[in-house]
Amino acid sequence: MTFAEQTVRLVVNDSAVVLETGRDFHPSDTLASVLRDRLGYTGLKVACDQGACGACTVLLDGRAVLSCMMLALEADGHEVLTIEGLPEDDPVVQAFAEQCEPGYGTAMQCGFCTPGFVMAAKGFLFENPDPTLEEVKEALSGNICRCGCYPAIAQATLHAAAKMKERG
Ligand code: FES
Ligand code: FES
Repeated sequence: MTFAEQTVRLVVNDSAVVLETGRDFHPSDTLASVLRDRLGYTGLKVACDQGACGACTVLLDGRAVLSCMMLALEADGHEVLTIEGLPEDDPVVQAFAEQCEPGYGTAMQCGFCTPGFVMAAKGFLFENPDPTLEEVKEALSGNICRCGCYPAIAQATLHAAAKMKERG
């Protein structure tokens, strides 16, 4: 089967990207595969590749999306933010890195799920900057952590919200 050539223009982490089908990717390629394999943004992980784990979460125009469930073609005209696009002093990144309270532990053990959780938390906190613990748990319920760091991840998200508030 042949496809008419299509151009996709998107912005990834503030950089304009132009991709052509045929030359750069196949029309059936997911956004996750193009971000990782073509553009080198390997922070996002593809664990299940079927929308069930959240490891591939990125922000699309500020909203958390599962990049394994979108075609790269669907990202045409949109802004994508991956974990690589966050600064070191991002409040969510800092809160996840600092998380170690007694009784909760670390928010990242092996770290495989962390980029997905950080991006999911970022998207959620854009929408709800002052959440309750229950709201955090609900918002992050689509992300899986094999290491079981859920209580600490929820705490880190609450701490990120507090940092955002402090910074205005
Ligand atoms: S890899 Fe996308 S949801 Fe699991
Ligand atoms: S920290 Fe290992 S999967 Fe979450």
